[in-house]
Amino acid sequence: TSTKFYDFKVQMTRVTKLCNTKDIVTVNGMYPGPVLYAREDDRVTVKVTNDSPYNITIHWHGVRQKLSCWYDGPSYITQCPIQPGNTFTYKFTMVEQKGTLLWHAHSSWLRGTVYGAIVAYPKTGVPYPLKPPYEEHIILLGEYWLKDLVQLEHDVLSSGGSPPPADAFTINGHPGPNYNCSTNDTYTLEVLPGKTYLLRIINAALNMEQFFAIAKHNLTIVEADGAYTKPLTVSQIMLGPGQTINALVTTDQQIGKYSMSVGPYMSARNVTFQKIVSIGYFQYSGYTSNNFPLSSTPLPSFNDTLVIKTVMDGLRSLGAVNVPREIDTNLFITIGINVQKCTSKYPSHCKGINGGVMAASMNNVSFREPNISLLEAYYMKINGQFTEDFPDFPLQVYDFVNQAPNDIPNDTQSIIGTRTKVIEYGSRVQIILQDTGTVTTENHPIHLHGHSFYVVGYGAGDYTPQAASFNLVDPPYLNTIGVPAGGWAAIRFVADNPGVWYMHCHMEVHMSWGLSVVLIVKNGQGQQETLPRPPTDRPRC
Ligand code: C2O
Repeated sequence: TSTKFYDFKVQMTRVTKLCNTKDIVTVNGMYPGPVLYAREDDRVTVKVTNDSPYNITIHWHGVRQKLSCWYDGPSYITQCPIQPGNTFTYKFTMVEQKGTLLWHAHSSWLRGTVYGAIVAYPKTGVPYPLKPPYEEHIILLGEYWLKDLVQLEHDVLSSGGSPPPADAFTINGHPGPNYNCSTNDTYTLEVLPGKTYLLRIINAALNMEQFFAIAKHNLTIVEADGAYTKPLTVSQIMLGPGQTINALVTTDQQIGKYSMSVGPYMSARNVTFQKIVSIGYFQYSGYTSNNFPLSSTPLPSFNDTLVIKTVMDGLRSLGAVNVPREIDTNLFITIGINVQKCTSKYPSHCKGINGGVMAASMNNVSFREPNISLLEAYYMKINGQFTEDFPDFPLQVYDFVNQAPNDIPNDTQSIIGTRTKVIEYGSRVQIILQDTGTVTTENHPIHLHGHSFYVVGYGAGDYTPQAASFNLVDPPYLNTIGVPAGGWAAIRFVADNPGVWYMHCHMEVHMSWGLSVVLIVKNGQGQQETLPRPPTDRPRC
């Protein structure tokens, strides 16, 4: 193993997109940001210098941060933000981690432009469990906004309503020819015929779940969220924000130019969605427009569920895995969107459904960030920043899952608080995530920091122990699970990483609305199981 050093300079960078020139926040002037390369078990040191006018943190999404919770990154959870002009050096080890992950800002909505890929190769001399691909390419799906993202966050939250869709969906930062002024701002991947390519596909969008497909080419999934899977061949995939998929593509078609399409998946009931598709090109070398015209593929309808079901039904870990069979901590957590009564006297603050304020909760608790780092408050035993009373059972579930009438009164209140759930070190944890909704149900990509988990079960409707059948043999090992709209997912993991770990919906607006909880994993006995002291150079609030 070795140590990889990176310098990340957070700065304002002038870009022209969609006929509009503006300054966006970037790392090192790049959009998307630089790729962080490492090998399994390498040490990684990233010096982040904040030359932007905003508070910022960086999160290493999917990196387990074994005994290094201080460097996990979510603002006000594991650290105070890095203030303008300041520096913080993140240090962590890629313990048992290989595959494709991502890094992104974890402060305000800045991850809309501040994101990039993490590529973790296997240890030196350890091959992939597949025929080596001819080439590897990173495909980052994103969203582009003409509005400043801190302003956007402020405007959306102070309106009480839902965010507008992004001004463009992007592939590696490029909107493609379906958008104004973007014909030359199109991602093109040049390929040779008769080869196999590995695509590292990452959804880095703020709020949009996205379908991805390449015309006339299948995708063979070989890895998800940085863990190998049994090869699974499909024609289309859907990724929620925060999800990554490695897929092989074989160039077995005629010399041609094929569209690479990205379009929205919107699962909320009674929401119709204009289908804007972002296009890139998958272009064979030797192609000229005389060969034959561009071949494009229709994406599924915006509310299609079959693509997800096909992948989830077929996704398996490669080989036998170590799924906890006995359970010490069994949590049942409802997740969903609700509407709070609007107490503001300004009508412009009451743009939620039925004149209320949009909110979201877990077990009917709408999470609020504390004013200082929760980890620091926990470690230093500072009172008054959080409580340890996250309810074991949902409080006041007004409507359980699918029967939600859409004319419900707008005074459905959830409890607002910084409530955490404390878990013993080494505990074998099962969490049943149940999507509910008083106003709508929706697929939520739930992401857990500090651990990956086995997705042992997955289904539509209400979870019932009788009806659920669990895969304890070879379930996929993920860090983000799309809980189906009005359905449930069951995850298991061993809480073997002391610290405070955020678990939240990776749709940014849902997280801002409170669709989060913090799991506190206590120290174990002995050095190897105890969170080290805080770094002395950590940012202060
Ligand atoms: Cu990728 Cu807490 O997020």
